Amino acid sequence: MKVQGKDFRTIWRKPNSKSVFLIDQRHLPFEFVIEEIKNVDEMCTAIAEMHVRGAGLIGASAAYGMALAAEQGIKEADFEVHLRKAGEKLKATRPTAVNLAFGVESMLETIRPGDGNEENAKRITEAAERFANADADMCRQIGLYGSKIIEDIHTLNPGRPVNVLTHCNAGWLAFVDYGSALAPVYEAHRRGIPVHVWVDETRPRNQGSKLTAWELAMEGVPHTVIVDNTGGHLMQHGMVDICIVGSDRTTRTGDVANKIGTYLKALAAHDNNVPFYAAMPSSTIDWNLRDGIKEIPIEERNQDEVLCFDGMSEHGRTQVKISPEESKAANFGFDVTPARLVSGMITERGVTKANEESILEKFPERR
Ligand code: MRU
Repeated sequence: MKVQGKDFRTIWRKPNSKSVFLIDQRHLPFEFVIEEIKNVDEMCTAIAEMHVRGAGLIGASAAYGMALAAEQGIKEADFEVHLRKAGEKLKATRPTAVNLAFGVESMLETIRPGDGNEENAKRITEAAERFANADADMCRQIGLYGSKIIEDIHTLNPGRPVNVLTHCNAGWLAFVDYGSALAPVYEAHRRGIPVHVWVDETRPRNQGSKLTAWELAMEGVPHTVIVDNTGGHLMQHGMVDICIVGSDRTTRTGDVANKIGTYLKALAAHDNNVPFYAAMPSSTIDWNLRDGIKEIPIEERNQDEVLCFDGMSEHGRTQVKISPEESKAANFGFDVTPARLVSGMITERGVTKANEESILEKFPERR
């Protein structure tokens, strides 16, 4: 997608380079910083400290991290053990998004025990590239299927823009390219369908006001940042036509774990008859799970993210304290929206209802 008119992915390799390059998202929207990652430990730090974030992107980062571990482990006596250790380190960085484990496991599956280390490393390097490309391809398809839903809403109300509400950042910054929840918005915008996005700021880390607003601005999509508690009011007044959010882990029954606060938006949407869609590539579906509330691990992060506010002032990047010294905070990163509140799931194979039977119609190989 575009940054100052130039095409970028969130993560990439350069020909003949031993490193991986990524957009360090901690600096957005104030500065555009590219970071060079030289080894798997640096990749673990980049994921844990959210230089990269978003389900699809941390999956691709894990795959590239495994490629670095493989390339640098050619002299290891037990190559497979070395790679499994690297995979465990990567998987320990963040618990909720299943793509992380999927990225690691997909790389481990390419190892052929009978082959030499060099051959196996080469295979993992190529597999990581394919993994990243597949993430971008799935998101592009989500854009094509999802834009049809936006187009249908526009056909019913041709005189005004379609108002989409989104939470957190499920745009291209959360994937390798295109995004999940925002891919339909970008595709509709490209096709000349008037669209406007209500952007939840998404405390505590403000992925909405910092990242979603930035990427929409770069693509010239009209948008308005709102505080997280505004959605219900807007829905009561007919100012939201559709909610589209991403997912960090989806059960085979259609429960959706996404950034904390998503569930409350789904409840408000349900109460106001606003369609509530979750957009996700199938790499986000955890086929082993049936009950999202009981089974999906929810990340808890440092309380300083809640007790402080981070932004830019005339003195540069600044963190200010916004609570009494004595106060503690709880910082749950995600919540689970039960399938009954999800109107539909936008996947790379089309739109499905949020229930096991409908999901399996699109993914029959998972029966
Ligand atoms: O904590 P983050 O920024 O990694 O959380 C990201 C989200 O919750 C996104 O909405 C989500 O990843 C779905 S789209 C990839």
